[in-house]
Order: sequence, then structure tokens, then C-alpha cells
Amino acid sequence: MKTVRCIFAAALMALIFAGPASAEDACIACHQKISPGQVQDWQVSKHSKEDVTCSTCHGEKHTTAEDANLAVMPDEAVCGECHEDQFQQFSKGKHNHGWTSMNAINVTHLEPDELMEGGRGCGGCHNMGIKSEAQKKEQRDKGYRYQNNSCDECHTRHSFSKKEALNPRACQQCHMGYDHPQWEMWSSSKHGTRYLSQEVGDLPAGAAAPKCQDCHMPDGNHENRTAWGFLGVRLPLPKDKQWADDRVTILKALGVLNPETGEPTARLDAVKEVDLARLTEEAWSKEREKMIKICSKCHSETYAREQLAMGDSIMQKADRLMAEAIKTVADLYKDGIIKKPADYAFAYPDFFYFMRTGGSDMEHMSHIDQVLFEMYMKHRMRTYQAFFHVNPDYAYWYGWAMMTKDLGKIKELAHFMRATHKK
Ligand code: HEC
Ligand code: HEC
Ligand code: HEC
Ligand code: HEC
Ligand code: HEC
Ligand code: HEC
Ligand code: HEC
Ligand code: HEC
Repeated sequence: MKTVRCIFAAALMALIFAGPASAEDACIACHQKISPGQVQDWQVSKHSKEDVTCSTCHGEKHTTAEDANLAVMPDEAVCGECHEDQFQQFSKGKHNHGWTSMNAINVTHLEPDELMEGGRGCGGCHNMGIKSEAQKKEQRDKGYRYQNNSCDECHTRHSFSKKEALNPRACQQCHMGYDHPQWEMWSSSKHGTRYLSQEVGDLPAGAAAPKCQDCHMPDGNHENRTAWGFLGVRLPLPKDKQWADDRVTILKALGVLNPETGEPTARLDAVKEVDLARLTEEAWSKEREKMIKICSKCHSETYAREQLAMGDSIMQKADRLMAEAIKTVADLYKDGIIKKPADYAFAYPDFFYFMRTGGSDMEHMSHIDQVLFEMYMKHRMRTYQAFFHVNPDYAYWYGWAMMTKDLGKIKELAHFMRATHKK
């Protein structure tokens, strides 16, 4: 097989140097001058050895320097024609919801397009997911032509390599930073430092060193999902009464429960649509048990269960702090000390507006609301994510300690706001 490929590659090179003989060679010959790095990248890919060429993915309509706009920007379905399994798995997993979930957030529609369709900011990480015709049209209408393909987020073009996607660095661009520093947590945990030591030969090859893909894409399965997910909420509510009450408070600030009646709002449907949280005990346990099996490859099952159960119980404690903070700010709305921004559905804190103003009149989100948002989106996330990614410092200093600091600040600010409001 190898020799066949070599002969094929040699024949191809001969064709390139002999000058264009077909449409396909024309693409390569011209692009060798226009964008040689790109052609070279494709040449090192498996595709170039398998006759998957420029026009296989980009079509044959564009043939001259003047009609480049006729080149098709291939979406996932194009890859799916030959990689049916990965396409099907991907379409059932969480990555397939990236674009839609981003657009389900109110703040998305108040921000500059460059940060969305443009593929930097939110859109630089959420440009995953098979887009509907309506979503594609909206993107084109705003003047954006690229960002049509999710597969090239881990197998970057045009080398489309499997080995690259197996490296945890393939996840780094997106799973880092403010509200989901999985890269930072993992790479400075014992799991990550072992992996990094192994890379430079300081740990014997074959020694255990789990990386993102081992735990989240076992057996190369492209359907990814975790039990708790990002927002760290689920249904049914916890059996513990206090925890259940705290959860209800958080769900109100997420706008999925009406703060006045406690009834579900229309936003709950949006949450369901993008699989934002597990909605049954079974759905949650299914993912949790999968993970326990993975840990149990290298740890005792008892050890693994204890570790993950601690993640759950720290979440319960974090929710206690969180609910107290939300109620403190909510009371300021109730007493008219914070005015309801025009776009908010309720006179209640709303996490779906992020740090931005909620009002169409461009009034700023109050400072106390911003502290509250950061407490939820940055510090509460870190507190439990760090348990799951075995990182001592993120669990305490960047997580729990910051939450207690936020709560103290919120109480002090509320006190001050009430005192000055009376005057
Ligand atoms: C005669 C030269 C020439 C030939 C032949 C040619 N291209 Fe191009 N191609 C260009 C130029 C010039 C551009 C525009 C580069 C730019 O925008 O800077 C381009 C752009 C592209 C783009 C990007 C379009 C975009 O909007 O960014 C793709 C994809 C592409 N070519 C694929 C192909 C394929 C596939 C073929 C063969 C079917 C082909 N090219 C044949 C010159 C050529
Ligand atoms: C296996 C499919 C595949 C093959 C083969 C392929 N491309 Fe692409 N190409 C893509 C994808 C996916 C994108 C990104 C589309 C998007 O962002 O919407 C892309 C984007 C591009 C772009 C525009 C973005 C940029 O980085 O400049 C150019 C130009 C381009 N390809 C040229 C080529 C050329 C030349 C060849 C042949 C040497 C080729 N492609 C072969 C899939 C392919
Ligand atoms: C016309 C069929 C075809 C299309 C379309 C196609 N591929 Fe492939 N792809 C192949 C073949 C054939 C191989 C080589 C299989 C092998 O060696 O096992 C391959 C291999 C791969 C590999 C494994 C490379 C490695 O390092 O082992 C990846 C990843 C991949 N393709 C991704 C993509 C992506 C992403 C797209 C869409 C942008 C795409 N392919 C479009 C046929 C295709
Ligand atoms: C650096 C990359 C990055 C940026 C920038 C980014 N996100 Fe995310 N976002 C992610 C990742 C990764 C996740 C999943 C994290 C997790 O589960 O811990 C996520 C999760 C989400 C979720 C929850 C999805 C779910 O179903 O669990 C929403 C909603 C969201 N982001 C919206 C946004 C919005 C709106 C912006 C811009 C204001 C934004 N994101 C900016 C990478 C990013
Ligand atoms: C040793 C296994 C393991 C490794 C390695 C690992 N994770 Fe996780 N990850 C977990 C567990 C366990 C959870 C929580 C599962 C649950 O909710 O029950 C999790 C949760 C997540 C979540 C959901 C939000 C959260 O943080 O709780 C994302 C996103 C994620 N991991 C991404 C990554 C990325 C990216 C890497 C590599 C930088 C990585 N993980 C490395 C085990 C691992
Ligand atoms: C989140 C990162 C990620 C995304 C997105 C992604 N892949 Fe992969 N892909 C991987 C990883 C990791 C592997 C290696 C899995 C293994 O062998 O354990 C892989 C392997 C592959 C392979 C090689 C299979 C084999 O064993 O030879 C193909 C083909 C492939 N992916 C196609 C796709 C297609 C098509 C898409 C888009 C629908 C896609 N991938 C999206 C991470 C990703
Ligand atoms: C281009 C950015 C990007 C890359 C690269 C990326 N992810 Fe993600 N990931 C996201 C976004 C965005 C989400 C949230 C999707 C949504 O809105 O539902 C996510 C969600 C996840 C989740 C689901 C968390 C949950 O809610 O249960 C896991 C697990 C995950 N990613 C693991 C990985 C791994 C492992 C890699 C590398 C092999 C990777 N991701 C590469 C952006 C990315
Ligand atoms: C591929 C093997 C492997 C997998 C899978 C794995 N681990 Fe580990 N884990 C290790 C190794 C090796 C160490 C380092 C042991 C040491 O510190 O001596 C470690 C360390 C740990 C530590 C830190 C112990 C310490 O002394 O600080 C915890 C906690 C942990 N793992 C939990 C988990 C959990 C939870 C899972 C599943 C989500 C998991 N591990 C999956 C191999 C693995």
C-alpha cells in the first residue's frame, strides 16, 4: 500500500512540474504560486495520498484569479460524505450545539458582529455545530463567508491530521481562560504534568498520563458530553431541602424559572434545545458512570467515586454562597434600589446578559450585578471544575476563596447602596 501511495505521490509531483493537465492540477499549480504554504500543508495530509483534492472539497466552479468567490467553503456534511461515523457521532454531541447555544444568550445579539460571525471572541470558540440554512443565511447577510466547518477546529486545515487532534493542545484554544480553564487546570495537575513530562521523555512511554481525549473522547468517539456540563445545574432538583432551594434561586437568575411565580419560562425550552443541562437523573448518571469506568482504568473504583462525589458536594456548598449572593442583589431590585434594565424580563439579576448592559438605553449593568456575575461565571465554575480536573490551586484560591470574597463584597456594596439610597 505504501509503495502504491509513493508512486501516486511521485506521479502527482511529476504532473505539478510538468504543468497543469486537468482542472485539479490547475488548482494546485496556480495555488502553488498564490498560497504555497497551503498546498504544502495539503501535500503532507493523508488526503493528498488518497486523491482527496482541492476540488473535492471546494468544487470546480472557481478556475481563475478573478472568480475566487465561486469556491465553495465546505461544511461538515462534505467531510461526512467520507467520514460518516465521526459525522454522526459529532452531530449527537455537545460540540454540535456550540453555535446555537451562543445565539441563545441575550448578550450575543448586543455585541459587535466581529466577535460572533467574525470568528473572534465568542464566535471563535462557538463556531462549532452544523448550521441550519437560516443560520447560514444570517451569516452571509452580515457579510461573513468563512467559519462553515467544525471538523477543522481539532483537525486543522489542510493537514487534517488525526495525531494533531489527539494532542491535548487541540483543545487548548477554547477550553481555557475566564470561565472554563480546563487547559490550565489539567496541565498543572498531576495528570497533565505527567503527560508533559512524558512528551519530553522524562516519564517512560506507556506510563499512565491521562489527557483530555482519554476522558472525553474515549475510543475516538466524537459524541462529547459530561454529567454536570458547563452551567453546573440539572434536573430533578436535589433531595436535600436547602440545596434544592439554593438551586431554585440560581435557576431564577439564569432566567429559566420566573422569579415571581417559580414557574418555568420560555428560556427553559431554549436550554432543552441545546442540551445545556441534563434534565433527568438517568441522563446525568449515564455520563457519570461512563466517567467512573474511565477513572477505574487507573484508579480503584472506590477512589474514583470518592473523587467525583467531592466535586458534587463542593458544588452544593458553592451553591449556598451563590444563592445568598443572588438574594442579596435581588432584594435591591425588589426595593427599587436597582432599576430593572429595559431589556430584562424581570426585576431580578439575569446571568444571560453577561457583563453587558441589559438596557436598550445603553445604561450599564450595575457594579454589584457585575460582581455577582463574576461570582457565578468565573469563580463558582472554577470551584467545581477544579475538583473534576484534580487541581488544588484552582479549587481553593481561584475558586472557593474568590467566591467568599465576592459574597463579602456584595454584602458590603448592598449595605452601602441601601444607606446612600435613603438619603
Ligand atoms: C489561475 C489561478 C487559480 C486557479 C487555477 C485556482 N485558483 Fe483558487 N484562488 C486563486 C486566487 C488568486 C484566489 C484569491 C486569493 C485571495 O483572496 O487572496 C483564490 C482563492 C481560492 C480559495 C479561497 C476563496 C476565498 O474566498 O477565500 C479557494 C478555496 C480556492 N481558491 C480553491 C481553488 C480550487 C479548488 C481550484 C481548482 C478547482 C482553484 N482554486 C483554482 C487563484 C487560482
Ligand atoms: C478535505 C477538504 C479540503 C480539501 C481537500 C481542501 N480544502 Fe481548502 N478548506 C477546507 C475547509 C474546511 C476550509 C475552511 C472553510 C470555512 O472556513 O468555511 C478551507 C478553506 C480554504 C481556503 C480559505 C481559507 C484560508 O485559510 O485561506 C483556501 C484558500 C483553501 N481552502 C484552498 C485550498 C486549496 C488550494 C486546496 C488544495 C491544495 C484545498 N483548499 C483543499 C477544506 C478543504
Ligand atoms: C472524498 C472523501 C473524503 C472527504 C470529502 C474527506 N475525507 Fe478525510 N479522509 C479520506 C480518506 C480516504 C482518508 C485516509 C483514510 C486512512 O488512511 O485511513 C482520510 C483521512 C482523514 C483523517 C485522518 C488523518 C490521519 O492523520 O490519520 C482526518 C482527520 C480526516 N480525513 C478529516 C477530514 C475532514 C475534516 C474533512 C472535511 C473538511 C474530510 N476529511 C473530507 C477521505 C475523505
Ligand atoms: C475561549 C473560547 C470561548 C469564548 C471566547 C466564549 N466561549 Fe462560551 N464556551 C466555551 C467552552 C469551551 C464552553 C464549554 C465549557 C464547559 O463546558 O466547561 C462554553 C460554554 C458556553 C455556553 C454553555 C453551553 C452549554 O450548553 O453548556 C454558553 C451559552 C456560552 N458558552 C456562550 C458564550 C458567549 C455568549 C460568549 C461571548 C460573550 C462566549 N461563550 C465566549 C468557549 C468559549
Ligand atoms: C482524568 C480525566 C479527565 C481529564 C484528563 C480531563 N477531564 Fe474534563 N472532566 C473530567 C470529569 C470527571 C469531568 C466532570 C464530569 C461530571 O460532570 O461528572 C470533566 C468535565 C469537563 C468539562 C465540563 C465542565 C467542567 O469542567 O466540569 C469540560 C468542558 C472538560 N472536562 C474539558 C476537558 C479538557 C479540555 C481537558 C484537557 C485540557 C480535560 N477536560 C481533561 C475528567 C477529565
Ligand atoms: C473536539 C475535537 C475534534 C473535532 C471537532 C473533530 N474531531 Fe475527528 N478526531 C478527534 C480525535 C481526538 C481523534 C482521534 C481519536 C482516536 O483515535 O482516539 C479524531 C479522529 C478522526 C478521524 C480518524 C479516525 C481513525 O481512527 O482513523 C477522522 C476521519 C475524523 N476524526 C473526522 C472528523 C470529522 C469528519 C469531524 C467533523 C464532523 C471531526 N473529526 C471533528 C477530534 C476531533
Ligand atoms: C473551537 C473551540 C473548541 C475546541 C477546539 C474544543 N472545544 Fe470542547 N467545547 C467547545 C464549546 C463552545 C463547547 C460548548 C458547546 C455548547 O455550546 O454546547 C464545548 C464543549 C465541550 C464538552 C462538553 C461539556 C459539557 O457541557 O458537558 C467537552 C467534554 C469538550 N468540549 C471537550 C473537548 C475536548 C476534549 C477537546 C479537544 C480534543 C475540545 N473540546 C476542543 C469549544 C471547543
Ligand atoms: C490513564 C490513567 C489514569 C486515568 C484514566 C485517571 N487517572 Fe488519576 N492519576 C493517574 C496517575 C498516574 C496519577 C498520579 C499518581 C500519583 O500522584 O502518584 C493520578 C493522580 C490522580 C489524583 C491526584 C492524586 C494525588 O496524589 O494528588 C486524583 C485525585 C486522580 N488522579 C483522580 C482521577 C479521576 C477522578 C479520574 C477519572 C475522572 C482519573 N484520575 C483518571 C492516572 C490516571
